[in-house]
Amino acid sequence: MFERRHLLGLEGVSAEEITFLLDSAESFKEVSEREIKKVPTLRGRTVVNLFYESSTRTRTSFEIAAKRLSADTINLSASASSASKGETLTDTARNLAAMRPDAIVVRHPSAGAPHLLARHVDCPIINAGDGAHEHPTQALLDLLTIRSHKGQIAGLTVAIVGDLLHSRVARSNLFGLRTMGARVRFVGPPTLVPPQFADLGAELVNDLHEGLRDADVIMMLRIQRERMNGRYFSSLDEYSRLYCLSVDAVAKARRDVIILHPGPMNRGVEISSTVADGPYSVIMDQVTNGVAVRMAALYVLVGRRRGIEADDGEHSTRDAGTAGGRTAGAAALPLRRAAAAE
Ligand code: NCD
Repeated sequence: MFERRHLLGLEGVSAEEITFLLDSAESFKEVSEREIKKVPTLRGRTVVNLFYESSTRTRTSFEIAAKRLSADTINLSASASSASKGETLTDTARNLAAMRPDAIVVRHPSAGAPHLLARHVDCPIINAGDGAHEHPTQALLDLLTIRSHKGQIAGLTVAIVGDLLHSRVARSNLFGLRTMGARVRFVGPPTLVPPQFADLGAELVNDLHEGLRDADVIMMLRIQRERMNGRYFSSLDEYSRLYCLSVDAVAKARRDVIILHPGPMNRGVEISSTVADGPYSVIMDQVTNGVAVRMAALYVLVGRRRGIEADDGEHSTRDAGTAGGRTAGAAALPLRRAAAAE
C-alpha cells in the first residue's frame, strides 16, 4: 500500500510501498500493448507537467502516462512560463493550484523545489527530478526493469558507474535498491564519488573493472556537464579511456548481466555503442517501463486516493487490496474493470 500524498523521493519509502508501486506498474504495462492504449481511470482529471529543465523522455513519458489514463494534461516549460518574467516558484504554484489541477509533476534545477511546492498546494506533487537530489520515478522504472529481468531485486549486486556526484538518478536508486535488499556499488573517479555516499550504504570503488566484478546489473550514468562548475577530471577523453563501458569491461560482470542507462546517452563517452545496442542492454525496456511506472504513480496518487469510484461506479478504480488487505497484484483488478467499462 502507498498512502503518501506526494511522491517526492524514495528516501524513507518502505519495501512494501515500493513493491506496491511496482506491482501496480506491472499491471499497467498491458495497457500500452493494446491497439487502443487508453483506460478511463483518470477521466476528468487534470495533470500539470511543470518543467523548469529541458527534458525529452521524462516529460513525454509523464504526458503519455497521463493520457493513457484519460487525464487532461497541460505542459508548462520554464521558458514559456511566468518564471521567465521573474515570478517565484511558490507564486507560480499558487496560481496553478487555484486552477484546481489534480496533480503537478515538477522538474526543477534546485534540490527541494518539489517539497516546497508540496507545502503550498493541496494536490499531489510528483518529483520528476530536483537538482542533484532525487528522481523517484526514474528509480522505480529502473527497479521494475531489474525485477522483470532478474525475478527479484534482493541479493543482486548493482554497479552504478559514472558521475555519481551530480546524479539524482543514482541517489534515488541507492535508496530504492538498498531498501529492496540489493548491494550497491558506486563506481567512478574519486572526484565524482564522494565518500559521504558510504554512509548511505553504497560501496565505493574507483576502478571500473574492479567495480564491475560479478555485477548482476550495471547502470551507466551520463557526465552531467551542465551541473559541473569545476574540473572533476582532466579531459573527456581521459574519462572515457578509464570509465567508458566497453565489451571488455562488461566481461568482468556476471554472464547474465543487464545494462541500464537512464538516458540521454553520450555514446563513446560513458558507454560504447556496441554495448548500448548489444545483447545485455535493457535500455529500451527502461523507457517502456517508464510509462507504466508513471501511470502507476498517477493512479496511486490521484485515482485511487481520490476515490473515483464514488463519482462513477461503472468506471470503478477501487483497489481490491484496500478492502481485502491484499497488496501485491491487487492493482490488476481495477484495470480489468476499467477496461471492461470502455
Ligand atoms: C536523467 C535526469 O534528468 O536526471 N535523465 C532522465 O530523467 N531520463 C539523467 C541525466 O540527465 O543524465
